[in-house]
Amino acid sequence: MKIILTGATGVLGSHIMYEILELFIKSNNDGKLFIIARNKGKKSALDRIDELLSSYYTPKIIREKGIHYLHQYLEIIDVDLADIQATFSTKIEGAYFIHSAGFVNLSTDETQRSKIYEENTTITKSLFTLFQPYIKKFIYIGTAFSSGNRKGLIENDFHTLGFSPDHRNAYENAKYDSELFIAKECKKVNLPFQILRPSVIGGKMLDTENPNFISKYMVFYLLAKFFYFTSQRKGEQENVRFIVYEDTVLNIIPVDYVAKVIVKIFERNDIEQLNIVHNRSFNMMEGLQLIMKEVGYTNFTSIKKPLNFIYQNTIEKLYYESIGKHLNPYFTSRANEYDTTLLQTILEIPVLDDQALTDMIRFAKNNNFKDINV
Ligand SMILES: NC(=O)c1ccc[n+]([C@@H]2O[C@H](COP(=O)([O-])OP(=O)(O)OC[C@H]3O[C@@H](n4cnc5c(N)ncnc54)[C@H](OP(=O)(O)O)[C@@H]3O)[C@@H](O)[C@H]2O)c1
Repeated sequence: MKIILTGATGVLGSHIMYEILELFIKSNNDGKLFIIARNKGKKSALDRIDELLSSYYTPKIIREKGIHYLHQYLEIIDVDLADIQATFSTKIEGAYFIHSAGFVNLSTDETQRSKIYEENTTITKSLFTLFQPYIKKFIYIGTAFSSGNRKGLIENDFHTLGFSPDHRNAYENAKYDSELFIAKECKKVNLPFQILRPSVIGGKMLDTENPNFISKYMVFYLLAKFFYFTSQRKGEQENVRFIVYEDTVLNIIPVDYVAKVIVKIFERNDIEQLNIVHNRSFNMMEGLQLIMKEVGYTNFTSIKKPLNFIYQNTIEKLYYESIGKHLNPYFTSRANEYDTTLLQTILEIPVLDDQALTDMIRFAKNNNFKDINV
């Protein structure tokens, strides 16, 4: 079996890589995993992947095999996805293409829109055009937030909605355009495809190895990070007002769960779209309270959307002029849940309760919110 994977140096892609390698090891087959990754500074793509395969956080089953052994399954293509050329057509013939690379950026700044579109949509379109003649199937890692700001039960099908999703930012929009493009183009040439959409990715939960581990602290972790470091400052904590609707929710799904589901189903032809999400979202205000308690910032209140919001102190200003500005639309979104009936038949969703969310934040705090940069 041949698989091409992009984004293997990322939060999710690294776990997809681990799962694929585990599959190859366990099934004892002559699998080949082509990893398209770019170099960074003095580190080649190969150095970066080797680091991911041999660190304390690498799953034991992978680490124990050793890099030399693992390389029988690997071929690293060191290139930026924006510059890739079709020079390896025959060896990738018949491969599954899993496109996990992306630019996770919830910015609401209009100046960021074109970069977000280029990194997420333009690259996806050109990759597809380049690889489509040779591959067996295109698997696109989207985002459950491409559903936009919606109320009620969200099903797996986003393509026959009968209305345009109300996207909260350029990222949701770019990811949605990409998946629509993939579905449309694949149907034209009769190529199987899958659109797999995680919600907000959180730390590991499935086994006892490195629980809560995540390589990069994004989205809700960024809020925790901001208030953790603010709480460490001397002096009294200033009151921060969060503009939150009372029924808005936050859906978090552990990274190892997402990766396992992807690798369990990429060969299945009966699934074209699937949201890889939790069956139960946190009420936003309750989630916020848990996070703030764990990071030790206690002086905050929730308010309804005011007509005119004037910062009442420096911390409020700092928050709303940085991460708060981008998270704000998610605090005032309509209440929804996802239909996880199909997902639950693939792999049981782990219980993510108050304690589990607290543990994720505690892990980040204990690691000083320091990302792992391979
Ligand atoms: N994180 C979340 O909460 C979340 C939630 C829902 C969906 N998703 C989706 O899941 C996918 C994976 O996200 P993630 O959390 O793993 O993000 P991430 O940690 O930021 O990783 C992004 C990956 O994409 C690679 N990449 C980006 N642009 C590239 C380029 N031009 N050339 C080569 N590689 C490039 C990065 O490579 P470098 O290491 O070289 O930068 C990295 O491996 C994305 O499609 C994202 O939209 C993420």
